[in-house]
Amino acid sequence: MELLNRSRRLRTSPAIRAMVQENSLSVNDFIVPLFVQEGSGVKSEIPSMPGYYRYSLDTLTDELNVIVSLGLKSVLVFVKVGDELKDNTGKEAYNSNGFMQQTIKHIKSVAPQLFVMTDVALDPYSIVGHDGIVADGKIVNDPTVEALCKMAVSHAAAGADMVAPSDMMDGRILALRIALDEAGFEDVGIMSYAAKYASSFYGPFREALDSAPVDMQDIPKDKKTYQMDPANRKEAIKEVLQDVDQGADIIMVKPGMPYLDIVRDTSNEIEQPISVYQVSGEYAMIKAASANGWLNEKEAVYESLIAFKRAGASLIASYFAKDVAKWLNEQSI
Ligand code: PBG
Repeated sequence: MELLNRSRRLRTSPAIRAMVQENSLSVNDFIVPLFVQEGSGVKSEIPSMPGYYRYSLDTLTDELNVIVSLGLKSVLVFVKVGDELKDNTGKEAYNSNGFMQQTIKHIKSVAPQLFVMTDVALDPYSIVGHDGIVADGKIVNDPTVEALCKMAVSHAAAGADMVAPSDMMDGRILALRIALDEAGFEDVGIMSYAAKYASSFYGPFREALDSAPVDMQDIPKDKKTYQMDPANRKEAIKEVLQDVDQGADIIMVKPGMPYLDIVRDTSNEIEQPISVYQVSGEYAMIKAASANGWLNEKEAVYESLIAFKRAGASLIASYFAKDVAKWLNEQSI
């Protein structure tokens, strides 16, 4: 055949394939989600997330040292608190000596170089398992935003570098920015979960933190009045642009793999860094299939992550972050 262009020429050896590779993974790309609970000596595996654990602060110390030694730069902190600390105001969320605030201080004392991001939403503190305050069967927007502002300021005061509101209330990015600035935390950033979908892929996470919406009369059993409809695409761009205008430093899309189109659309629209959250259900799927011998775990993980980079994300929150850092360090991916 007379062919001027033979695409396979650039695929003939590992060397040329590496030379023309358009995207790559680096330890700098990853955000490590951390699940923390009260107590001591706890390293508790989450049943639906094999190989992923909840730590108490003492056992977290070793984990933090591992994270740093792998070259990873940032963590995203989630706490599980006892039922006695939950109510429908979320006031424990902004207790200056609460468990999240202690955890932030602990991380900063063990690993001051780690960039600490914190989840801002009321669900771990909500007796009904919602991200906001519930009144008359509704998740009320504006009172929730007031609580989130106090929560974010208390995280900043404890030493957080960036807050990550995952609640999907309207107007919270501007309110958080103003509250942080007024409290003197103008250097504390905001990573907005701007396009966060009402997804079934959060199931294992809600098990890990005991934070699922309760099954009670007059309480919505899902988060569809604040998280986005998986059928919608343009709405994501509207949310993203609003949050950029309101002062978000980093924009997040969540979940990851089923929403690569949203990552790409966002990347086409904005100049801010984009992060993507490969959520608990995505982790669980790859783990379960690999455990059955149906997928090669390392290859499947790599492919899922490089797809995020290709789609336009520059940061990835993933439960595989440590595995990937090991593989990158030993140059096996
Ligand atoms: C809570 C929150 C959730 C996740 C991150 N923050 C769950 C939810 O919205 O119900 C999900 C993360 C995951 O599934 O890995 N605001």
